[in-house]
Amino acid sequence: MKHLLSTFDLSKETAVALLDHAEELASRISQDRQLDLLAGKTVANLFFEDSTRTRLSFELAAHQLGARVMNFSAAGSSISKGESLKDTAQTLAAMTVDAMVIRHRSAGAADRLAHAGWIEVPILNAGDGAHEHPTQALLDAMALRRHHNQVPAKEAATKLVGADLSGARVLIVGDLLHSRVVRSNVALLNTLGAEVALVAPHSLLPAGVETWQAEVFTNFDEALASNPTAVMMLRVQKERMSSAGGGFFPSVGEYVRAYGLTDERFRALDPKVRIMHPGPINRGLELSDLAADNAQAIILEQVGCGVAVRMAALDWLVNGENN
Ligand code: CP
Repeated sequence: MKHLLSTFDLSKETAVALLDHAEELASRISQDRQLDLLAGKTVANLFFEDSTRTRLSFELAAHQLGARVMNFSAAGSSISKGESLKDTAQTLAAMTVDAMVIRHRSAGAADRLAHAGWIEVPILNAGDGAHEHPTQALLDAMALRRHHNQVPAKEAATKLVGADLSGARVLIVGDLLHSRVVRSNVALLNTLGAEVALVAPHSLLPAGVETWQAEVFTNFDEALASNPTAVMMLRVQKERMSSAGGGFFPSVGEYVRAYGLTDERFRALDPKVRIMHPGPINRGLELSDLAADNAQAIILEQVGCGVAVRMAALDWLVNGENN
């Protein structure tokens, strides 16, 4: 693996091995607190778009492996003077970096950085527009794999080796149109053997969704009746929606009634169903407080898995998969 750009690039064997490695590193770091797999290396984090979880967990992952970290945010940089992506990346690469993490509002930015021939550095896609977010899908799969196989986190490194998601059915709900998370998840979940179902209003279904490897619903209650083992709620991305027509749905209240995981829908769920969300949450819109803050919700465990998955990906890309 030279870069991590898309979950479509991951074979089942590679994805499972990466999850196994993430569990191994999570276990080691819980005991030792500090590893030296990237000692003497430098990781550059380029964030052209806002982030809390992804930026901080990539930073922590690199630190926990012993790397130096350079954090670049578009705000406050020479981007305001018109500097291009190419010149920005080449400037950082000239300071000698061993891996580059990029989040960008434009679909294809990570791929461009990896393949334009500007720099020779492993690239990790931390989210590009509405296109892909591969480490998010990997961390979702890591958390899901534990719960689907009923293995607690502290035993996962030994008990989950080689495990996939056969028998799981994941229902992904909401703003599919603007979601990079759904694209990366549909590919990876299928690769790992899970069934995928999607539900959104017609206005938030991506063009061509009928060709995706997923059962598509427009009625949330019908989708919930199809026996998912996990329900992944997506953030309504108000910032990516046109104001033309006044918004994304007749009203916020209509959206909540039709597609929100409300208290009422939460209470009707089978207690074994896990509730997921990539964050940040619009509380009271796609997810009620009750649905977000209960034992069925694994949202904070997803965040923890994010550090482990990013450690595993950085280690593989910098040191090689068989080091
Ligand atoms: N899930 C996710 O990508 O969150 P951030 O935007 O906070 O990184």
